[in-house]
Amino acid sequence: MANISEPDLRPANPRFSSGPCAKRPGWSLEALNDAALGRSHRAKVGKSKLAQAIDDTREILGVPADYRIGIVPASDTGAVEMAMWSLLGARGTDVLAWESFGAGWVTDAVKQLQLKDVRTFDAPYGEIVDLTQVDFDRDVVFTWNGTTSGVKMPNGDAIPANRQGLTICDATSAAFAQDLPFDKLDVVTFSWQKVMGGEAAHGMLILSPRAVERLESYKPSWPLPKIFRMTKGGKLIEGIFKGETINTPSMLCVEDYLDTLAWGKTIGGLEALKARANANLKVIEDFVAANDWIGFLAKRPEIRSNTSVCLTFTDPDLVAQSEDAQNAFAKGVASLLEKEGVALDIGAYRDAPAGLRIWCGATVEASDLEALMPWLAWAYDQQKAEMAKAA
Ligand SMILES: Cc1ncc(COP(=O)(O)O)c(C=O)c1O
Repeated sequence: MANISEPDLRPANPRFSSGPCAKRPGWSLEALNDAALGRSHRAKVGKSKLAQAIDDTREILGVPADYRIGIVPASDTGAVEMAMWSLLGARGTDVLAWESFGAGWVTDAVKQLQLKDVRTFDAPYGEIVDLTQVDFDRDVVFTWNGTTSGVKMPNGDAIPANRQGLTICDATSAAFAQDLPFDKLDVVTFSWQKVMGGEAAHGMLILSPRAVERLESYKPSWPLPKIFRMTKGGKLIEGIFKGETINTPSMLCVEDYLDTLAWGKTIGGLEALKARANANLKVIEDFVAANDWIGFLAKRPEIRSNTSVCLTFTDPDLVAQSEDAQNAFAKGVASLLEKEGVALDIGAYRDAPAGLRIWCGATVEASDLEALMPWLAWAYDQQKAEMAKAA
């Protein structure tokens, strides 16, 4: 028998997906009224909007003046692969993985690029690798925030300032929610669809002066498709980093990114965006502390994400069940909440351990998470009652 009755309060916005993520508070299609639609992205108006997107990104994230910022095709994946295909192979490479997307970059390095000198390091879900084992005199590819496991790098302390290799960092679910130490990062990538609640399909590629030096001095042995090419005649194509995109962007998506960046600036920039994500995580931390049947996949707080928050059911009755049964239980909880319209898209990622993943990035309101928590207890109780009935 279920014991908990349906809570009265519902989240005003039930969108807790880990990407595309909730739009900023107050967003409506009217925010896009000023989009340069039906105009060339090379016209003055289009170019100035693209340049503005780069400038605002630099301002909010605190990207150093001598780092290039480009808008590139194919979302975060496009930006990461563009960097890997253009930069790797000049020296040995270490690729680090602590969840599914990092594992994808391992596949790229080992099976697709077939790098001659490559080492791979992986950690189970909920952990990150031992960074003291990594050699930063080699190139290092890693994900700052593991979206499917809810872990993050604690900081950049393990990365030496005087490293010989390049650090290539997939920061798509970290940018705008966590500090990114640019002096320790040579390539930083992200997509608009994550913490700022923008649209997918466009990637951001940030390059340090050392990454540019590599681009201008090293030519990979494999062919590069046009959408990966950042140099011409051995020189960086500077236009890419001023808004002259390689191919045609969506000016509707650009307008939407400009809108959310303007919102970010209005509320107080990076500090305010980080504070919102931290406050959101705190709502879930308080709930987990008060309930012994649920826990974080990332047990160590210093590596626990404040964006993609991954939860598992720790109830011994459940833990004793088969993996399939645990998956079915977790899916049951997520689909009950979806059916009630109180939480959309919070099932764990398909390759991750059974559980829930609740996005806590800056566009999510803490009040919505507060409203969701009693529903979580309700859905868990419902599923437990179902389980008891079936036994
Ligand atoms: C860590 C990480 N890397 C890469 C991706 C792929 O991003 P996109 O679909 O924007 O290319 C995602 C998407 O969720 C991600 O979380």
